[in-house]
Amino acid sequence: MEIVAIMGSHRNGQNTQKAIDYFISKIKVEHELSEYNVNKIDVQACIACDHCIPHQGECVIEDSMTEIYQKMETCDLLIIASPVYFSAFPSKIKALIDRTQMIYNLKDKSAIKKKKILIIGVGGAPYYPRQFQAVDNTLEWYKKTLSCDEIGFVQFSHTDELPVLDNKKCLEELDEIAAKINTLIAKS
Ligand SMILES: Cc1cc2nc3c(=O)[nH]c(=O)nc-3n(C[C@H](O)[C@H](O)[C@H](O)COP(=O)(O)O)c2cc1C
Repeated sequence: MEIVAIMGSHRNGQNTQKAIDYFISKIKVEHELSEYNVNKIDVQACIACDHCIPHQGECVIEDSMTEIYQKMETCDLLIIASPVYFSAFPSKIKALIDRTQMIYNLKDKSAIKKKKILIIGVGGAPYYPRQFQAVDNTLEWYKKTLSCDEIGFVQFSHTDELPVLDNKKCLEELDEIAAKINTLIAKS
């Protein structure tokens, strides 16, 4: 099973990374993991040049996205894990999502594998309505573009006081999702 995890925090090794690591540790089946930490890759902003409309499958920018496009298209499980900054995706992961416009513009999307997606949202503040709404909105078209079926959206609020590894309720949600993945793979 091919898993691609995108870590969207501008801090390494903190709540977002810990949530990904926890989840991956629960996947018992054999898997190949490609993990992309936004602080360690070079992903420039989409320049809206529209080159990818007449030149299907091409992006004029040469950076880490060349590899990430291919991985996002063909993996079995995509994990998008990110904090919210001003109730929205931080700029680095938003740039990565925006660059998916190249795939959105493909007229023939038959090469895009159907896959599961797990979304992990992290917010420092106590839960408030719409804390993760912008993340949900942004991912609506990202999921359609990449042929994703959402297997869970785990929302860790109040990480300023309750670090992710102390949030039993959310960890249980991750356990349940991992169990579903393990069952799906065992059956296939
Ligand atoms: C620029 C910035 C803006 C933030 N805005 C919000 C916000 O709107 N809502 C919220 O709940 N937390 C907000 N936070 C807190 C982060 O979501 C929180 O610290 C989270 O744990 C960061 O993830 P990390 O621990 O993986 O780095 C913000 C943090 C930063 C740096």
